[in-house]
Amino acid sequence: MLKHFTKLLLPLLALAIFTGCSKTIEQNRIIPLPQSISYFDGTFQLSANSYFYTNLVGQDRVEFADYLKESPFALQQVDSKEQAKVVFEISNTLPDSLQKEGAYLLNITSKQVQVEATNPAGLFYAFQSLLQLAQIETNGNASFPLVDIADYPRFNYRGLHLDVSRHFYTKEFIKKQLDAMARYKMNYFHWHLTDGAGWRLEISQYPELTEIAAYRPYANWKEWWNGGRKYCHYSDSNAVGGYYTKQDVEEIVAYANQRHITVIPEIEMPAHSEEVVAVYPQLSCTGQPYTSAEFCIGKEATFEFLQNVLLETIDMFPSAYIHIGGDEADKRGWAKCKDCQRRMKEEGLKDVDELQSYLIHRIQDFLSQQGKRMIGWDEILEGGLAPNAIVMSWRGEGGGIEAAKKGHQVIMTPAEFCYFDAYQDAPVSQPEAIGGYLTLDKVYSYNPVPEEIKDKSDLILGVQANTWTEYISTPEHVEHMIYPRLLALSEVAWTQVDKKDWESFREGVLKETACLQEQGYSPFDLNHEVGERTEAVTPIEHLGKSKKVIYNTPYSHHYAAAGDESLTDGLRGGWSYHDKRWQGFLNTDLDVIVDMETVTDITAIYAEFLQLSGPYIWLPTNVIISVSTDGSEYTQLKTIENDIPTTYDKYIVVPFGWEGNTQARFVRYQATSCGIDGGWLFTDEIVIK
Ligand code: ACM
Ligand code: ZN
Repeated sequence: MLKHFTKLLLPLLALAIFTGCSKTIEQNRIIPLPQSISYFDGTFQLSANSYFYTNLVGQDRVEFADYLKESPFALQQVDSKEQAKVVFEISNTLPDSLQKEGAYLLNITSKQVQVEATNPAGLFYAFQSLLQLAQIETNGNASFPLVDIADYPRFNYRGLHLDVSRHFYTKEFIKKQLDAMARYKMNYFHWHLTDGAGWRLEISQYPELTEIAAYRPYANWKEWWNGGRKYCHYSDSNAVGGYYTKQDVEEIVAYANQRHITVIPEIEMPAHSEEVVAVYPQLSCTGQPYTSAEFCIGKEATFEFLQNVLLETIDMFPSAYIHIGGDEADKRGWAKCKDCQRRMKEEGLKDVDELQSYLIHRIQDFLSQQGKRMIGWDEILEGGLAPNAIVMSWRGEGGGIEAAKKGHQVIMTPAEFCYFDAYQDAPVSQPEAIGGYLTLDKVYSYNPVPEEIKDKSDLILGVQANTWTEYISTPEHVEHMIYPRLLALSEVAWTQVDKKDWESFREGVLKETACLQEQGYSPFDLNHEVGERTEAVTPIEHLGKSKKVIYNTPYSHHYAAAGDESLTDGLRGGWSYHDKRWQGFLNTDLDVIVDMETVTDITAIYAEFLQLSGPYIWLPTNVIISVSTDGSEYTQLKTIENDIPTTYDKYIVVPFGWEGNTQARFVRYQATSCGIDGGWLFTDEIVIK
């Protein structure tokens, strides 16, 4: 009985639509904001089950009608335009500016709603605007303001990425996110299906990928990562994981298609592939499982495997684009591998960058033969970019700028603005995340066309948010990270820069967040935003400010902050260690001397350190503070032991300091690294009072 009940529920779920919310007309602010909207006095009333007319034909007509029938207005199709309260027409007489995919005209008078577009996506987006404008009663009747809208997207590519490898998410969950994407006129779902933490796609020819590489004896990524990074058979009693069957993919692709969303699969290569080479170790350089994350590029078997996997993938995904990853390869194994070395010699490749590029070129040729375009993370630039490849710029905008200068198309997704795995509020108030600090307004502030390549803006296909899930193990947490930041990204992607308006957007988001909650989503609630670290808001005045710092140990050039001035510039770090105020020391102690220029009365010396275990940032094990009048003889004022263990996994900032009375010209501050390989020390200011 229960089984049947479940079965009956499923088709309903599959057709669920992001329905209306209890907003009043005055509260309606369409997100993303249309390019042009004029309001008129009065309202339009639409009763539930009213008629709509469309001149769409074929499958487009069927899918649109199904979608409208399931909408909160439960619109019914009619063949006579005169009988219809809402008219959706494909037109070939719209001006050039409205010829773009997704563009539409929406006119609401007191009698009728009239929509025109040159393509089905435009009609669909007009309906999304209509949904957002509606004040809907519980009986399905709705009121609308009278408006004239002319709208079109700024970018053709408006993407959301989700990592389902680190933690697996169900088909229903994916559909729910597609519903929200549609509401905000997002049109590409980048599905990160494979990575070291689990393979998630059925490939008939390689069953071990889903029988073993999709399962691990740990539910949580962090435990798996720290606990040996092993996989297990799906039938093991402690197996956790999952994958999408071909049937699941077909359903999701169709569901997305009805919402004018293209699903782009990502098959990672040549790195982030621990799970593949664990079950097929012959594809790695060592030939041994659990020794590598990279494919061996010297072996033909690697290409045979990748091409077979891609063929099955292409069969499942009609997308014109296929993402092949390409990021973060550890190339050291290739330098030691005789097969890779032979390949380099035979192909005249001068280094391992060119070896990587050899693989990317071959895969790009293969995809081209299959009629597909290749997308890769910006590392695909290393060693020479394959013709026609589209670059997804994530390590800042540099890769995108370089690619555009070479005439390649680009999708901007720089971590600083687009990584939704970063904290969106004070880390102390949030569930554990990988680090960073990416607020709603920062996402909103992003402009995907860098000044430097303004004249090549047509090469920027668009922009995407990335949701990596190392630290995100529940559906609620994923939604907490995506919403409402996706709303900001949607406006970045859709609305022309000069039309954007932060104040009205923020107001709109507050209302829309309530709406998301009503719909069963778990967005972050902006009403409870704590905001930036207070220490970072106002510069600090102290005796050491602007004094010279002598570095006995070097800071990392990747996290140099303001360089040699950083530790005495009065600027303290914010919640993000990326904010160019925190200075990072990699695999080394910190040992610096501040030269006060003259012997000075000193009553306090301190510095603050960060611990954030995800990116390997640890507090020092101890701190030694010493002073000197002549710069050669130092007197130790204090040694401070740290009693917070490296296993403490919450974001924490801790001061290490001394207070007393002394006179000195030189202040030496030493912080001992915890010694973990790859570990960082991060501090922002040596405060001297
Ligand atoms: C990436 O974040 N490794 C693309
Ligand atoms: Zn090799």
